[in-house]
Amino acid sequence: MSWPDDVVERAEVMVAKYPESRSAVMPLLYLAMREDKGLTLDGMRQVADYTGLTPVQVESVASFYSMYKRDSVGDYIVSVCTSISCHLLGGDEVLEAVAEETGVPPGETGSDGRLSVEGVECIGACGGAPAVQVNYELVEGVTPDSARRLCRWLADDQPVVISSDQMQADFGGIRSFEWGPAEPGGATGPVPAFGPLGTEGQRS
Ligand code: FES
Repeated sequence: MSWPDDVVERAEVMVAKYPESRSAVMPLLYLAMREDKGLTLDGMRQVADYTGLTPVQVESVASFYSMYKRDSVGDYIVSVCTSISCHLLGGDEVLEAVAEETGVPPGETGSDGRLSVEGVECIGACGGAPAVQVNYELVEGVTPDSARRLCRWLADDQPVVISSDQMQADFGGIRSFEWGPAEPGGATGPVPAFGPLGTEGQRS
């Protein structure tokens, strides 16, 4: 199955950003995962077509990173860190609050396909623990209460673009360090930010 025009357009923008098309493999895999709500063989074949890599090479990248989901995922993937720094500062309580507020247990996707919840290993924001990601965009210094508000915001507003800056301002606490200049076109986030390429929770 081929991608719709707007997804093809985004894929072409991604490929054009790199001197070698193969360098676009990771953002393209993300795009394929968002499009199919989970990474499919067909999606990976399309990534291979865009990058000039073989399907096996594409799959070897996809299978290395836990962020590329083969199972079906929701429009929003809420990842709560429960590794040591976050654990010590309440990450488990944050995960519990997310599960309670959404009704989605860790490791599962809600029956409406809107939201997936997971507990994850360190996401590189230990200084701003407890840390949470939504569609891999980071928010630091989260509390159980602010995590509940974040979940309600996702459910009520259904934001198309997930922005680290916005989430940090609305739901975050103390963070590890300044991330640098804001990127109004999308999420800032630490590398590799997909924001300039359009970090979407869903296509409108
Ligand atoms: S331990 Fe949670 S971000 Fe590192």
